[in-house]
Amino acid sequence: MRRRTEAPASSNEADNADKKGPDQRRQSPAEANGGVSYRSVLINLGKCLLLIIIIPPFLNYASLQREGQMLLPKDGQIVDVGLGQKMHLLCKGQGKPVVILDSPTGMSSDVWFHVQESVATLTKVCTYDRMGLGFSKRLMPNETTGTEKVWGMSTTGRMVDDLHRLIQAASIAKPFILVGSELGAFNGRFYSHIHDAQVSDLVLIDPIPEDVFEEDQWKEYWYGKVLPTFQARQFSAATGLSRMLIILGAIEPTVKGENVSEEVVQRQKYLLSNPAHQSSAVDEHYFLNESAAQVRDITKFKPLSSRVSVSVITGDSFDEQVPAHLNQMVAELQRKFLEESYPSANQIHIKGADRRMIYKKPSAVSQQLRRLVNQRQARQQSE
Ligand SMILES: *[C@@H]1O[C@H](CO)[C@@H](O)[C@H](O)[C@H]1NC(C)=O
Ligand SMILES: *[C@@H]1O[C@H](CO)[C@@H](O)[C@H](O)[C@H]1NC(C)=O
Ligand SMILES: *[C@@H]1O[C@H](CO)[C@@H](O)[C@H](O)[C@H]1NC(C)=O
Repeated sequence: MRRRTEAPASSNEADNADKKGPDQRRQSPAEANGGVSYRSVLINLGKCLLLIIIIPPFLNYASLQREGQMLLPKDGQIVDVGLGQKMHLLCKGQGKPVVILDSPTGMSSDVWFHVQESVATLTKVCTYDRMGLGFSKRLMPNETTGTEKVWGMSTTGRMVDDLHRLIQAASIAKPFILVGSELGAFNGRFYSHIHDAQVSDLVLIDPIPEDVFEEDQWKEYWYGKVLPTFQARQFSAATGLSRMLIILGAIEPTVKGENVSEEVVQRQKYLLSNPAHQSSAVDEHYFLNESAAQVRDITKFKPLSSRVSVSVITGDSFDEQVPAHLNQMVAELQRKFLEESYPSANQIHIKGADRRMIYKKPSAVSQQLRRLVNQRQARQQSE
């Protein structure tokens, strides 16, 4: 490859040399040759680099177009929630009360795969993609609808507004059981405080305490460690690097295992390579302090109605991969906000679990949700 392009280059150089003055012609052929091959190596290197920079993103975008159509879940619906927005809703099973699952920070509805399958044998269970994630496409900045003036993009207030419109548009039966993990727990709290008549039970899985962003150590961890990981993922998706790493097996989907269908695996790979999804994941992490502040305000301003039952599911630690002092801090602040805001909450501990429990220990989580559904169904029958 290199040789073939070298040949014309050196003959060019020879032509040039002929036109040069006698002084320059005295240059030894070896010297001239060395200069030429160095230059052509550089040129070829440049071409290779250009290919490496251009081709993967190009192939990635071409594949994303195709996969976006193909991998939309078969049971999923794209619901027009008004104001020009469309959201992806995925419901399984039949019956009441409906269970609604809200994902952790930056994650699509697939993260609930195991839990949804298990609880759907008892009742209707719905997951959805928050705006910008998964199959809920975010509007262009010039197409926004006015709600962003009230709540910033990718903050809890905005998400709750979207979820509320989604539930109306899809005519989901009320009251329902609202389950949220991490950021999903912020949303669950915000939703239940405002629309308390719609929620019979609020389940918080690994809730992040709203006061934690007051702590410098936490801010350092979240903005210094967690956020950069997601920014790197966004960059890697945009350059097509993620797709290559997935092909090489260096990146793997979060939800996998013997009972996970190929479609779910492919969909997660698609989202890992999708810069739009990754960008929204970054935003949700970036604005989590804003979300925390909103939840703190709403909790103070409008306490939760006593009609809503609250359950809190936590593991041994917030995240087994972070230093002990951070876990202690989160546990301490969790205890504080639960005491203050939800003193009669039913507290459930899952052994050996942390913030990854909904996909690492799904049967333990499903068991708690199934128990709650059974209780509600028994009460409905006796009424
Ligand atoms: C928003 O901008 C995009 C391109 O920047 C354009 O294609 C689209 O039509 C615009 N939408 C509206 C509602 O103006
Ligand atoms: C997969 O499903 C089978 C049958 O439903 C079940 O027995 C098995 O425990 C499941 N495996 C996992 C890892 O969930
Ligand atoms: C959230 O963090 C950003 C960046 O550190 C800061 O500018 C913003 O004021 C914070 N918001 C709140 C509500 O604390």
